[in-house]
Amino acid sequence: MIDCLNKDLENGNVVRLFTLETPHTSYILGLLGEDQLVHVYYGKKIRAPKSFDPWKKLPLFYLGQSPHRDDVPGFQEVTPYDFSTFGAPDLRLPTLHLRYADGVSAARFAYKEHKIYGGKPKLKGLPATYAETDDEAQTLEIVLADELHDARVTLLYTVFARHDAIIRSMRVENTGSEPFTIERVMSATVDFVGAGSSYDFVHLDGAWGRERRIVRKPLGNGLQEVFSRRGLSSFQHNPFFALMEKNADELHGRVYGFNLVYSGNFTAGCEADAIENVRAYIGLGDFNFSWRLESGEIFQTPEAVLVFSDEGLSGMSRVYHKLYRTRLCRGRWRDAERYALINNWEGTQFTFDEQRIVAIAEKGKEIGLDLFVLDDGWFKGRNNDKSSLGDWIADETKLPHGVKGLAERIEALGMKFGLWFEPEMVSPDSDLYLAHPDWAMHVNGMKASLGRNQLMLDLTRGDVCDHIVKSLSDILSDAPVSYVKWDCNRCFSEAASDLLPPERMGEFAHRYVLGLYRILETLTSRFPDVLFEGCSSGGGRFDGGILYYMPQIWTSDCTDAVERFAIEYGTSVVYPFNTMGSHVSAVPNQQTGRTVSMKSRGDAAMPGQFGFELDAAAMSDEEIKSAKMCLDRYRQFGELMHKADLYRLSSPFEGNDAVLEFVCEDGETVLLLTEKRFCELSAVGKRVRLAGLDPNADYEIVFADKPGYKGLLYGGDELTENGMFFQGGRDGDTALFVFQKRPAPEKE
Ligand code: DGJ
Repeated sequence: MIDCLNKDLENGNVVRLFTLETPHTSYILGLLGEDQLVHVYYGKKIRAPKSFDPWKKLPLFYLGQSPHRDDVPGFQEVTPYDFSTFGAPDLRLPTLHLRYADGVSAARFAYKEHKIYGGKPKLKGLPATYAETDDEAQTLEIVLADELHDARVTLLYTVFARHDAIIRSMRVENTGSEPFTIERVMSATVDFVGAGSSYDFVHLDGAWGRERRIVRKPLGNGLQEVFSRRGLSSFQHNPFFALMEKNADELHGRVYGFNLVYSGNFTAGCEADAIENVRAYIGLGDFNFSWRLESGEIFQTPEAVLVFSDEGLSGMSRVYHKLYRTRLCRGRWRDAERYALINNWEGTQFTFDEQRIVAIAEKGKEIGLDLFVLDDGWFKGRNNDKSSLGDWIADETKLPHGVKGLAERIEALGMKFGLWFEPEMVSPDSDLYLAHPDWAMHVNGMKASLGRNQLMLDLTRGDVCDHIVKSLSDILSDAPVSYVKWDCNRCFSEAASDLLPPERMGEFAHRYVLGLYRILETLTSRFPDVLFEGCSSGGGRFDGGILYYMPQIWTSDCTDAVERFAIEYGTSVVYPFNTMGSHVSAVPNQQTGRTVSMKSRGDAAMPGQFGFELDAAAMSDEEIKSAKMCLDRYRQFGELMHKADLYRLSSPFEGNDAVLEFVCEDGETVLLLTEKRFCELSAVGKRVRLAGLDPNADYEIVFADKPGYKGLLYGGDELTENGMFFQGGRDGDTALFVFQKRPAPEKE
């Protein structure tokens, strides 16, 4: 999978070429001269080149230099690199920018050595994809050293035998006696030569309740960047972008995806120059970031996952889905079907007591659900969002028998019990804040800004992290809690810590995330049977870092079926459906006021991790019956969708119909889920062309919501080329069609 071509040429030059291969892609690096690491190729799999003369094979001439003088070594500013520094002489945004003790930042790093080995190393303190055995993956480490100052970097590249992804990260080491400062460190940069005008930049933008919309725009000259400066990976941008060739779409064409496995500040984008060279970069947020590295210390970056597909954006997504489902998510819950649950938040908000909760759980049991989740408001004095965060002790008025007493009652109903926490927060009105005001993020002498009436705890401090681990461990050890919803309802402000010296204050944001990861690692290993679900006012921190610890995330606070379908559609660009918490709520919807049938609400939640989020005790018999029907559909079809190959066929961001196709692992069953966003009168029928089918097989519709379809037989080629048609519906109406593959009859 990783090969290194070494040749000593007669003219004394050394040729060295590293070819990284995945099942369908190649990634090639080489040495320019003896020691400059250059990027040669990334894309569809090609045979490893037999020879490499960078002066001939790379466009190294400088703008203004005669293209006829191709014997003249070029100016390095246009050289395509895989690792770059600034100012010697490259002037583009670099992979690594250091400030040495003498104030110098220009640096040139030279190749020193490399090694190739089976497996994938763990990244200390950071979430990462993993290999279960050494023959699943191979890793290339390339060591470079600064020619002038005492700094070394190790570039890590891993390829998996079964996934079309290139995993990259970097270690920076201080090999000298003086400290230096890292001012910018990307996990990966890739230089695409002469590519600018042929690519579009695709990213996932959003806001609270409107997460991860797919945005596509031409890649112009200059910078095109997405980022977070909020401390969390954020609603506003996801740590992801893709470069799509102009003629690429969901099903066809070349697409390069870049995703950072990280939950905090990030920067990701492209710098395109006047001669259309594009440097793509992704890594830790560089704004307000610095990291002091003492003599002998090593800094490890988070990892970036690069995916190339020539099967369009959906092709790229399928690679991310399989990799993240199987080699990022971990533990007992990775492959297991999760709990179908009922959560009381939209049903009761803060107004409940034990009786009301048990009544909701009883109805949940009648519907057939596995687990009840008690959301916000269960702890000491918490009757609205103005107090008590940090005081993780049951409120005696609401829960006279404590969490344990309630959990045992729920278990006696034959259900599991789950509990909400917001562990990273403290309310100014709380015992915790009274005892430890300095544990909240703050700048001495400056008023702390409240967000949802609360402050964030300073997770750069070991004592704060230990306290969080202890408070949660006490409850999880005492009561039968089978599921934890881990919420986080605000972002950073006044981000500083009393314990960080001035020269380390630029480390705050990353140290916070490292603190969070330490807490999550401890709790998830201590309680391996508990299912953890991430949440951040919905999907404000939906990223691979969280998925490493918690295999599912509450996708959005918007539970309206029309909006939710679109949010899931956008989220699926990177993240698999089985990581998306998705619930049916009451109508009119609390966020949008829209009324959509229970069946359609169920269908919108069906591809994700399913549940209900309403006051089930207030439901009529008719509604309970529909809820049971939704759950049955989920168990019959939704769980199949979790591991299926996804094709996005029609985008809610571009038209009135959202259509998803799921081809099950064995290729035998294909599910088509459609949603009409808004009712259109006299609408033309929607044509959908399916994908991923065997053109030589037939497909019979064995289940259809719409009359007249069941029993229809289509050719795989017919469905791919001519497609199928269906008519509209009311606002938010969904339809499911299930196809079964049939052997095509022998030709006569
Ligand atoms: C925000 C979450 O996204 C909601 O689901 C709910 O848990 C509330 N917080 C509770 O405060």
